[in-house]
Amino acid sequence: MAIERTFAIIKPDAVTAHQQGEILSRIQKHGFKIVAIKSLRLTKEEAGGFYHVHKARPFFGELTDFMSSGKIIAMVLEADNAIAKWRDAMGATDPKKATPGTIRHDLGTSIGTNCTHGSDAHDTAAFEISYFFAGLELI
Ligand code: RTP
Ligand code: MG
Repeated sequence: MAIERTFAIIKPDAVTAHQQGEILSRIQKHGFKIVAIKSLRLTKEEAGGFYHVHKARPFFGELTDFMSSGKIIAMVLEADNAIAKWRDAMGATDPKKATPGTIRHDLGTSIGTNCTHGSDAHDTAAFEISYFFAGLELI
């Protein structure tokens, strides 16, 4: 397996619910290195740019309203097979369908308010990392 980087977000629902510490603790227990981390609030337009692949989907307006509704924590995580490993740690998109013990099952409340984001492939990880972090922040 190759050392890989993925992009992760602690979403506004989890920040508002003060779940950052719990999620960071789980990231540490899963063995990820946090390469970069920052707290910020996106505008609706910035959230739309991030989720541009979903632009035509019926939930796009709701998704970008939610992702711009409060502060998020953006991170670059590194591990062997980091992209799949972080998706596994988060669990299914809908917390009701996620396996017990996964982050979304344990902390998410609905398909919209599902507490974390993770890149789904190499190309999306590269785009998402560069959307939030400059090269000098990733050394
Ligand atoms: P994410 O991108 O946030 O990590 O989530 P994901 O890959 O598991 O799911 P994706 O298909 O990329 O969807 C992005 C986000 O849109 C919301 N969503 N709502 N109402 C719906 O049917 C629906 N489907 C997706 C979710 O909040 C999901 O995280
Ligand atoms: Mg996705």
